[in-house]
Amino acid sequence: MQLENRVAIVTGGGGAIGRAICLKLSGEGAKIAVFDISMESAEKVAEEIKQKGGEALPFVLDIRIYSEVEKAVAEVKGKLGNVNILVNCAGGSARSKMAEFHKQSLEVIHDMIDINLYGALHCIRASSPFIIESGRGSIINVSSIVARGGKKACVEYGAAKGALIAATKSLALELGEFNINVNCVSPGLVSREAIEDEKAFAQRYSCVNRICTQDDIARAVLFLALPESDFITGQDLAVDGGRSLGLKGDY
Ligand SMILES: NC(=O)c1ccc[n+]([C@@H]2O[C@H](COP(=O)([O-])OP(=O)(O)OC[C@H]3O[C@@H](n4cnc5c(N)ncnc54)[C@H](O)[C@@H]3O)[C@@H](O)[C@H]2O)c1
Repeated sequence: MQLENRVAIVTGGGGAIGRAICLKLSGEGAKIAVFDISMESAEKVAEEIKQKGGEALPFVLDIRIYSEVEKAVAEVKGKLGNVNILVNCAGGSARSKMAEFHKQSLEVIHDMIDINLYGALHCIRASSPFIIESGRGSIINVSSIVARGGKKACVEYGAAKGALIAATKSLALELGEFNINVNCVSPGLVSREAIEDEKAFAQRYSCVNRICTQDDIARAVLFLALPESDFITGQDLAVDGGRSLGLKGDY
């Protein structure tokens, strides 16, 4: 158990990838604060961790609202102990609202930046004093390969995720002296629905012969959260089966 007695906040912990991250960190002994806007999802994941013998608590908040983030982070310290790890996973591209930028509504543009960028920055701002106080820690931001290669009808999402990669680098410079490493994990397409023809999907969306799973992302996050990875900082790790290499040109 490499994360025993460590406390990890996972935002969007009730979501598909967030749940996998919560379970993975818990499997190494971390106590998990499941941050989510959905009470039902946060409670479900916290319960699942407890059923497996881990320690977890749900926290319901909207990461777009700084006062809610500040309050929840302070509660984590009181209920689970000082924060050592922050994983910013809440977010998404709101696929049903995607549109080419010249036709996109201002509401969606602002919303995408609010959740994917401001939400993550709020959590970093509120948590980092606690992580500094704890003496050692890791921050892992979930970005996207869209920020690397671009994607049509994804301008605001790509802008937010790209800014998150940029923030990661500057934060790594600032927080290194406090023994905190800061990195990004950028997933390729991780389907939430069952895929009918996995072989065709894999051929289209990766260079390897299988689809990307939530667990692939969780393993990368765990790797960056482990003490043995503390010399890796300011990096953006693509977990996409080579898709962002652009070999297939199918963005
Ligand atoms: N699924 C993919 O293919 C993919 C690819 C690249 C990057 N990503 C990134 O991975 C992360 C997780 O994606 P997912 O597919 O698991 O999505 P998901 O929708 O399953 O999970 C997102 C979670 O965030 C929570 N959330 C949303 N708004 C919130 C808010 N304001 N405050 C607190 N919680 C909030 C949701 O309730 C949900 O539980 C996102 O940041 C997404 O951009 C996903």
